[in-house]
Amino acid sequence: MTLIQIEHVSKNYEMGGETIQALDDISLEIDHGEFVAIMGPSGSGKSTLMNIIGCLDIADHGDYVLDGMAINQMKDAQLAEIRNRKIGFVFQSFNLLPRLNAYENVELPLIYRGMSKKEREPLVMKALEAVDLVERRRHLPSELSGGQQQRVAIARTLAGDPAIILADEPTGALDSKTGVEILEIFKSLNEQGRTVVLITHDLAIAQQAKRVVYFRDGRLSKVG
Ligand SMILES: Nc1ncnc2c1ncn2[C@@H]1O[C@H](COP(=O)(O)OP(=O)(O)O)[C@@H](O)[C@H]1O
Ligand SMILES: [Mg+2]
Repeated sequence: MTLIQIEHVSKNYEMGGETIQALDDISLEIDHGEFVAIMGPSGSGKSTLMNIIGCLDIADHGDYVLDGMAINQMKDAQLAEIRNRKIGFVFQSFNLLPRLNAYENVELPLIYRGMSKKEREPLVMKALEAVDLVERRRHLPSELSGGQQQRVAIARTLAGDPAIILADEPTGALDSKTGVEILEIFKSLNEQGRTVVLITHDLAIAQQAKRVVYFRDGRLSKVG
């Protein structure tokens, strides 16, 4: 069943009187439960596409249907609602709050959802278990390794129970051994039924996904 349907999507940026065509007539379908890697060199439009898939940005042209919803026609408040309910982001730079410990970082989005402490606790613990960090839950980000910080970021995403996990270069700041460990987590999340879209410029990482889509100069050069 189709989860993500992108049809003839284009996106331009205006920069100092110049137009940069970041996405040029992209069409892509991703089914529920897939694990897709989007692979391409720096500047090829991967993050622009991820921002559109994640409802952080809207295409200039073309259609995007997410789980049956026409995203292009939505207002900002509706987009924010869809993001909160459906999408989990993981970034290269972890984006953890430095003054909160691992537990509190994972808990934060659940506080924003208005859940009580009692409701939050089992969800936070389950998410920390999924990334094997329960025993480190009282550590601040500065007291964790890069790989552990990324696992906290993944747990924070998981606590919200997203249908889709969008990861933009999640191993980009990690050594290759740690990168492989992070990749194993995404694999197991996918085996548990979550849809994973992983962006990378690293072919060895991309090839671990079930399907690889190749990007060049804002165009799809090969759809696996
Ligand atoms: N906010 C922006 N303003 C202007 N140009 C941008 C912006 N974001 C991205 N671009 C340009 O769009 C192109 C695609 O960028 P991006 O999607 O970030 O590529 P990638 O993630 O593959 O490195 C690049 O040429 C980049 O410089
Ligand atoms: Mg990028």
